[in-house]
Amino acid sequence: MRQIGDKFDVLVILVFLLLVSTISKASVSKEGFKQCEHIVKQWASSSLDLEVKDDKHVLQNLLFFLHVPRTGGRTYFHCFLKKLYASSLECPRSYDKLRIDPRKPKCRLLVTHDDYSMMSKLPKDETSVVTILRNPIDRVFSAYEFSVEVAARFLVHPNLTSATRMSGRLRSKNTISTLDIWPWKYLVPWMREDLFARREARKQKGNSVVASTNPYDMEEMVMPLHEYINNPIARDIIHNGATFQVAGLTNNSYLTEAHDVRHCVLKYQSLGDYVLKVAKKRLDDMLYVGLTENHKESATMFANVVGTQAISQFTGSGSHGDDAANNNSEQRSSLLESDFDNTYHHNNSSYEKPSQISSVERGEVTKENMTVGKLMDVYESCISNLRKSQSERRVNSLKKISPANFTKEGRRQVSEALLQEITSLNSLDVELYKYAQMIFANQHKLMLQNKVVTNQQYHGFDELYSAFSWEAISIAVSVLFVLLFAILFVTAKRRTSKLKL
Ligand SMILES: *[C@@H]1O[C@H](CO)[C@@H](O)[C@H](O)[C@H]1NC(C)=O
Ligand SMILES: *[C@@H]1O[C@H](CO)[C@@H](O)[C@H](O)[C@H]1NC(C)=O
Ligand SMILES: *[C@@H]1O[C@H](CO)[C@@H](O)[C@H](O)[C@H]1NC(C)=O
Ligand SMILES: *[C@@H]1O[C@H](CO)[C@@H](O)[C@H](O)[C@H]1NC(C)=O
Ligand SMILES: *[C@@H]1O[C@H](CO)[C@@H](O)[C@H](O)[C@H]1NC(C)=O
Ligand SMILES: *[C@@H]1O[C@H](CO)[C@@H](O)[C@H](O)[C@H]1NC(C)=O
Ligand SMILES: *[C@@H]1O[C@H](CO)[C@@H](O)[C@H](O)[C@H]1NC(C)=O
Repeated sequence: MRQIGDKFDVLVILVFLLLVSTISKASVSKEGFKQCEHIVKQWASSSLDLEVKDDKHVLQNLLFFLHVPRTGGRTYFHCFLKKLYASSLECPRSYDKLRIDPRKPKCRLLVTHDDYSMMSKLPKDETSVVTILRNPIDRVFSAYEFSVEVAARFLVHPNLTSATRMSGRLRSKNTISTLDIWPWKYLVPWMREDLFARREARKQKGNSVVASTNPYDMEEMVMPLHEYINNPIARDIIHNGATFQVAGLTNNSYLTEAHDVRHCVLKYQSLGDYVLKVAKKRLDDMLYVGLTENHKESATMFANVVGTQAISQFTGSGSHGDDAANNNSEQRSSLLESDFDNTYHHNNSSYEKPSQISSVERGEVTKENMTVGKLMDVYESCISNLRKSQSERRVNSLKKISPANFTKEGRRQVSEALLQEITSLNSLDVELYKYAQMIFANQHKLMLQNKVVTNQQYHGFDELYSAFSWEAISIAVSVLFVLLFAILFVTAKRRTSKLKL
């Protein structure tokens, strides 16, 4: 009897302890939420209380191109910006955080994957920000494919040791490679290690029959997409990446508090709304927001909004920097290799000088003579060359993991469930993208109006914008129509009733 009583006591104590511990855990996590909410709110309010820029349509002295990875920003950099801005005007080492010095005097163009927190190092009032956004699902696919593509180039090496040693040697030379640039400096080595492991496993097994026909789920050859998107690294870097980058909260942020905010938001989804709000406000204040999908319109708009002003800045003030261009100590670094890695182009792994763009494209069209029309012409031929070389490189690289090949047909084999999963992992980006589409539509309207009113003047843009809303006009027109119709109807009715009388 006594023993049973003892056992009972022990049980009661155990249950009690269990209860206490769960309750205290719950309260800790509740406290955690409260604390996180405080941190995120604090950050959001300090990020939002900057007042509206009233001259956001005017190109300032410094153009900051916030390049969200895999949105096609490279095209804009090579085929627009480099035609407009002399190399000497480019901020040094745009893609290389370690050596960046944005305060380089006279530097007028900064193109980087660094996030919005970079603004803390720039003169705010003299900086215009532009960016391009892309449908989040396509962006995730593209990030996956590019990780694989770059990593697969290393498969020319017999083993991982020799591959990493070689890339270390290349990096010590005075160039920037994809492996130096966030986020690829995390994504590529991760994928590279994985590719070598899979190749090793195939060797061990001997016969390597690939069962799947779905390139996004071919685990013998390459990490399947579903595995990629659920890895903590992808959660850290890829999902909602556009929102985090525009908000200045990537894991590459300059802001010390950003990392706490980020962790809180990743932990408590509901806090994402604050981040979204800040990101939307930032888009509102940008000089230009393009969309990867609406490529043609985006490019035209870029030429009209940014191009025209850059051209008139240079011709107007005569402060064009070609006089300083002879000091070419920075020139070599300025090629954006992020999406453009030529370092591993050839299978013999010797270093190759980046990107031999033909001299015509390189902007022998002197920048002083540049017009929007010419800019568009140069752009067209530039992108077609760029695309060609890009697709060649991709095909060559993916050969190494054949039969895996990322094609349109392959994409159709991706299950609806997986697409859903990507969407829900990127819910903030989905919202931000919708918002960007709205801004884009407005910009487009504005550009068309402006073309009608005057081709050159960008001042008075804001007045135009507020006083001249198409919505208001269309509402007024509809009201008029309704009135007209009503009058006609009434008179017609009167007539018929008169007839009856
Ligand atoms: C990796 O490859 C290099 C070059 O062929 C070779 O010297 C080295 O022994 C290899 N290492 C391993 C661990 O197999
Ligand atoms: C950023 O994310 C990568 C990948 O998860 C990680 O290795 C790295 O340590 C992170 N950096 C910071 C500053 O958190
Ligand atoms: C070229 O740039 C370097 C540093 O970037 C500077 O020390 C040097 O004086 C410059 N030379 C000319 C001719 O501007
Ligand atoms: C390496 O390149 C040479 C010519 O550039 C080619 O003949 C050879 O097949 C290539 N080797 C591999 C493994 O791709
Ligand atoms: C690798 O290519 C370079 C030039 O691209 C060439 O000079 C060198 O001989 C090549 N090496 C091998 C082993 O093919
Ligand atoms: C640029 O314009 C100047 C005069 O305005 C002219 O002399 C020069 O030939 C033009 N250059 C090009 C490449 O059109
Ligand atoms: C992969 O697909 C592309 C077309 O999308 C094709 O040109 C290429 O030859 C394919 N590669 C292989 C190894 O089948």
